[in-house]
Amino acid sequence: MIIKGIFIKFDMIKNKTLIFTFLILNSFFLVNKSLSQNLEQGKIIFNNFCQTCHQSNGKGVPNMYPSLVKAPLLLRNNTTKIIDYILKGSQGQKQAIDGEFFPNDMPAQKDVLTDQQIADVLFFVQKQFNSSYNLKKIMPETIQKRRKLIH
Ligand code: HEC
Repeated sequence: MIIKGIFIKFDMIKNKTLIFTFLILNSFFLVNKSLSQNLEQGKIIFNNFCQTCHQSNGKGVPNMYPSLVKAPLLLRNNTTKIIDYILKGSQGQKQAIDGEFFPNDMPAQKDVLTDQQIADVLFFVQKQFNSSYNLKKIMPETIQKRRKLIH
């Protein structure tokens, strides 16, 4: 009896462990799936809304559009500044980007892209163009908050 009881207990533990492992793995795959979906979406947004200027390899066009490979804004990793810049555009404020100044302005995206689209495109840009960019995912809610504050 006792031995049987021990076996049953062991079986229960085994099942619980299996279910637990299954749940952990499942959530891991779900998170991964949504990340790759964000990336996929980000790429589509980039191709449609950024590529004309910054080019598909992100290297821009000399004297016209900056490269996003060593963008000081992205290297500095200040989420609020990055979001505000994309929403409002450069508004005539000039700073050297990879040693170069650009006469053109970066156009405001606030009336062009949704919060989700901005979140996705930033994730794509960060992941695609420089491995030292911070890959902390920016949530659409954060962009929504900044959108309300900018003018
Ligand atoms: C019409 C051309 C154009 C389009 C479209 C465009 N950009 Fe830009 N972008 C620029 C120019 C020009 C600058 C530099 C502006 C300046 O220095 O005043 C810039 C600057 C930037 C910078 C800042 C670099 C830095 O570190 O200061 C980032 C980041 C950026 N763009 C991302 C994007 C993203 C993401 C998109 C698509 C949603 C996009 N751009 C669409 C022209 C464009």
